[in-house]
Amino acid sequence: MKEKNIPIIAIKNLNFRYGEKDQLVIDDLNLEIKRGQFIGIAGPSGCGKSSLIKVLTKLEKAEGDVYLEGVSIQSLNRADIAKKIALVPQTPFLISASIRENVSYGLDYEVSLDEIKEACRKAFIDDFIESLPDKYETVIAEGGGNLSGGQRQRIAIARIFLRKPSILILDEATSALDNTTEKHIQKAIELLQKENSVTIISIAHRLSTLENCDNILVFDKGKIIQMGKYHELINTPGIFQDMYNGILK
Ligand SMILES: Nc1ncnc2c1ncn2[C@@H]1O[C@H](COP(=O)(O)OP(=O)(O)OP(=O)(O)O)[C@@H](O)[C@H]1O
Ligand SMILES: [Mg+2]
Repeated sequence: MKEKNIPIIAIKNLNFRYGEKDQLVIDDLNLEIKRGQFIGIAGPSGCGKSSLIKVLTKLEKAEGDVYLEGVSIQSLNRADIAKKIALVPQTPFLISASIRENVSYGLDYEVSLDEIKEACRKAFIDDFIESLPDKYETVIAEGGGNLSGGQRQRIAIARIFLRKPSILILDEATSALDNTTEKHIQKAIELLQKENSVTIISIAHRLSTLENCDNILVFDKGKIIQMGKYHELINTPGIFQDMYNGILK
C-alpha cells in the first residue's frame, strides 16, 4: 500500500551547476510536493526551471538528493523514473512511425485504437488526424518534421492522457498552441489531476495557465523567492507581478 503521508517528490539540499566553475543553477533547494497537487513553476528566463526538471528526471546529476515516493533517485534508473514521471518538453520527441504508434509509444501494454482516439480527442488533435488520408496510420517523419510545433505538442499531450502517469511534468508544453486550444487542453489536464490524482508540475511562461495551481513556486537564480496562489502573487509586488505586467520576461 502506498503511504499517504510520504511526499510524492522530496528535494533535499539540492545544488546543481553545469561546469565545475560555473555559477549554481540550483542553489540549495529544499522542497516537498504532496500527491495529487498541481504545482506551477515560474520565473525569468534562465533562472533554472528546465535544469531542475533535468535533475528530477536524472538527465543531469546534482549534489543533494531527490526522493520519488520516498525512494532516492540514486537507486532508480532512467527506465524506473520514466515509469513514474511523464515529461512533456517544449519540443517533444516523436519517433519515425505512425501517429497511432507515436501516441502509444513507451507503453508496455496493448491499447485499442478507440483508446488512442479518445486520448487524441482530449488533446484536441483528433480532427487534424482524421483529416489526413491515412488518418492514425499516417507516418510521422523523423523528429516530427512534417508537423507544426503545436501539432507535435498535442501528440505528446495525447500520450499522457493514455498513460495517466503518477507525476506529470509540463515544461512549456502548450507554448506553441493558440489561446483557445491551450485553454481546452488545460481543462482536460486539470481533470487528470482531479480524477486520477496525478501530481502535476507545470512550467509556464504564459502565466494564466497557472491560475488553478494549488501552489506556484517563483524561481530566481536557482532559488524559490516567492510562493503562493495565482491571485495572491499577481497582487503582491515581486517578480511574478512584474512578469504578469510584462515588465520582466
Ligand atoms: N546544457 C547546458 N550547459 C551549460 N549551461 C546551461 C545548459 N543548459 C542551461 N544552461 C544554463 O543554466 C541556466 C539555467 O537554464 P535553464 O534552461 O534551466 O533556464 P530556464 O529557467 O528553463 O529558462 P527558460 O525560461 O528560458 O526556459 C542558464 O544560465 C543557462 O544558460
Ligand atoms: Mg526552460
